[in-house]
Amino acid sequence: MTSDSRSHAEPGPTEWGAGRHGVGPWAEEHPGEPLPSSDRFDPELLAEGDRRNVVDAYRYLTREAIIADIDTRRHRLHIAIENFENDANIGTVVRTANAFAVDTVHIVGRRRWNRRGAMVTDRYQRLRHHADVATLLGWAREHHLEVVAIDNTPGSVPLEEAELPENCLLLFGQEGPGVSEDAQSGAMMTCSIAQFGSTRSINAGVAAGIAMHAWIRQHADMNKSW
Ligand SMILES: C[S@@+](CC[C@H](N)C(=O)[O-])C[C@H]1O[C@@H](n2cnc3c(N)ncnc32)[C@H](O)[C@@H]1O
Repeated sequence: MTSDSRSHAEPGPTEWGAGRHGVGPWAEEHPGEPLPSSDRFDPELLAEGDRRNVVDAYRYLTREAIIADIDTRRHRLHIAIENFENDANIGTVVRTANAFAVDTVHIVGRRRWNRRGAMVTDRYQRLRHHADVATLLGWAREHHLEVVAIDNTPGSVPLEEAELPENCLLLFGQEGPGVSEDAQSGAMMTCSIAQFGSTRSINAGVAAGIAMHAWIRQHADMNKSW
């Protein structure tokens, strides 16, 4: 079936979330089948149904079992976002990082951030806090990660043409100041996302999604995507 014919007959990706997603109790979804006995399954979800925002492969699994599975799928991609003033975009960054099975999201600066935009994906995502950029850069060196700052500052390399390192930490700035000087001088390069309109910059959460996907296109094994 072509994707064209499918788009007329079946719900497409933007409609998958319409209505309540998830599954009902195991007994209703799998009539006559015994309840799974493995402790990877959550008895409450088996009894009452699973309406969590997780992919179908993770239905009825405990949070611990889901995290253990993602841990086997994580990429050599780390994300860091500076959090000295404004944390409004961090939730979005965490949610996208979870979708791409990023290894760890590093928060630099203030420890607190608004979890709302993460839509509970932070439960499944490794998070690490660093007091300042120097500590983050030291940690990256110790873990053999090359740091790429992302901002549209003078001298930056177009992300559209850049070869991103496989063992990579992408470092983002925040609304207002952008990526700090310390971050840029500690990075192997700074990459910019091409723009064509009037605004000086795009939202940091959106920029993070674009840059993560640039890494995915270069390094991820598409056979392992859902
Ligand atoms: C809203 S921007 C603010 C800084 C921006 N340099 C300015 O002059 O207004 C916040 C963050 O989003 C990311 N960002 C926004 N637009 C970008 C672009 N076109 N290229 C790369 N990063 C961008 C960067 O990480 C940046 O630090």
